[in-house]
Amino acid sequence: MNKFTTDSVIAIIGGTMGAGIAQVAAKANHQVLLFDVAKGAAEKGIDNIRKGLGKLVLRSRMTQLELDALVSRIVPISDIKQLSSADLVIEAIVEKLEVKQMLFRQLEDICHENAILASNTSSISITAIGAKLLRPQNLIGMHFFNPAPIMKLVEVISGLDTDKQVADNIFELAINWGKLAVHAKSTPGFIANRVARPFYAESLRVLQEGATDIATIDALFRECGGFKMGPFELMDLIGHDVNYAVTCSVFEAFYQDQRFLPSLLQKELLDAGHLGRKSGRGFYQYPQNTQTENSKQQPDLALDTQLITIEGDLGIAETLLPLFENNGLKINRVPAADHQQTSEGRIIIGDAILMLTNGQFTTQRATDLKCPNLVHVDLSLDYQKAKVIALSPCSTLSLQALNCVIALFQTIEKTVVVIDDVPGMVLMRTVCMLANEGFDAVNQQVCNEDAVDIAMKAGLNYPCGPIKWANNLGLSFTLKVLNNLAITYGEDRFRASPLLQRKVAQQQLDVIKKSITTG
Ligand code: NAI
Repeated sequence: MNKFTTDSVIAIIGGTMGAGIAQVAAKANHQVLLFDVAKGAAEKGIDNIRKGLGKLVLRSRMTQLELDALVSRIVPISDIKQLSSADLVIEAIVEKLEVKQMLFRQLEDICHENAILASNTSSISITAIGAKLLRPQNLIGMHFFNPAPIMKLVEVISGLDTDKQVADNIFELAINWGKLAVHAKSTPGFIANRVARPFYAESLRVLQEGATDIATIDALFRECGGFKMGPFELMDLIGHDVNYAVTCSVFEAFYQDQRFLPSLLQKELLDAGHLGRKSGRGFYQYPQNTQTENSKQQPDLALDTQLITIEGDLGIAETLLPLFENNGLKINRVPAADHQQTSEGRIIIGDAILMLTNGQFTTQRATDLKCPNLVHVDLSLDYQKAKVIALSPCSTLSLQALNCVIALFQTIEKTVVVIDDVPGMVLMRTVCMLANEGFDAVNQQVCNEDAVDIAMKAGLNYPCGPIKWANNLGLSFTLKVLNNLAITYGEDRFRASPLLQRKVAQQQLDVIKKSITTG
């Protein structure tokens, strides 16, 4: 099986995605043949590429000569038989199994025996497409993200019969095209579209349970989580018809696993015809600035004590401490009480006790700990950089104690958002569920851990890979959050991945072994 070189001829079939992929291949100096069944569509695609690149020339990021050379390497083709010289054909046509099977079967007769056939499908099984082919070993998934020239990720998807050398050659080709490639097995949603489901599902769930309003949840994702867009803004942009269809297809493909359960809230929007930006209304009204001020922001309050006590280890939230000190607060550090474990540390200020949310209701944990003045703090990507902090008090917290906590965070220049008591709050439960899905994909041999994090960052612009995030949070704490969510809701949806359980056990065993060997 020959590796690809710049002499390899690349054929692309399709419209929007097709033109983007053609641009990527031409930029990497290949001769590109662009075909679309619709008359004039290939020419239109090339015209769009020229227009897009023209903007780069205006901004001096490309010369007119480079633009002309790149575009001249893309040849519009009007008859599919002219693709006979192609060494690789990438298909980006309509998302229908039978139509793709028919096209590839036709290509097998037109192209030479060693030609590789790739599909850009986002949801169809590569194994199923290959079932109708003479040479399924030469078929592979090459899943680009929209817009293909900008988004870095390419998921290289192997079907059951795909030759390993073909997968390796395509992986190397994608890297040579300046992309970040990941290997994955052909399973529903591949990596990114599978692992991303909780990003939408958990937000829809906390909204449905009345934790807070839409704009506040979006603001928390941006300001605490470091995401470019909140889930509701993103769903409105993608379109609820498309986003809901992806969720339903993953749900059905996994034999209705509750982990992928679609949301009634989103179905309501769909039923009403509120598809998002494209219909002028989704979670927000358009046109408008979606980044509205979150309504739960607290007014400025004065702090009447300068002393805070830190009991135990705050885990990922330890980075708050230098901020407190730099703002003139005195920290009294005391060891954790016996019953406390890592990341179960607390901040005590005035009458209030603050702890990182652990997946329980604040009120439930306050009851368990016999601590009627407990406040939960939500997860942040970076507690130092986050502009906002989200709090959720237990039902018995006094207004005076809550005001003291609000003033504490205002002292370190955080905007404080108070949300209702929901298990795992907003970011904590979402990030733990994202990581859980990532671990489960790895557990089921779809891909490795690095691939999960690369896919989520390069394919969907996540600020941090979910597996790395869970490691920063602590795997045993991540598992605890999931187990608490599972107990609280009693739903299979929150079951922890066996791989996560195994890793936590492994860490605990390492500590036991160390303590035995050191006597
Ligand atoms: P599109 O509707 O813009 O383009 C599809 C093109 O395929 C049309 O121009 C149509 O004329 C042509 N076509 C249909 N049947 C054909 C045939 N038998 N032979 C040749 N051409 C044919 O669709 P889009 O959005 O570019 O998606 C194409 C594929 O890429 C789908 O499989 C989709 O799942 C996948 N994809 C789409 C992404 C997106 O954001 N739009 C992202 C990643 C993958």
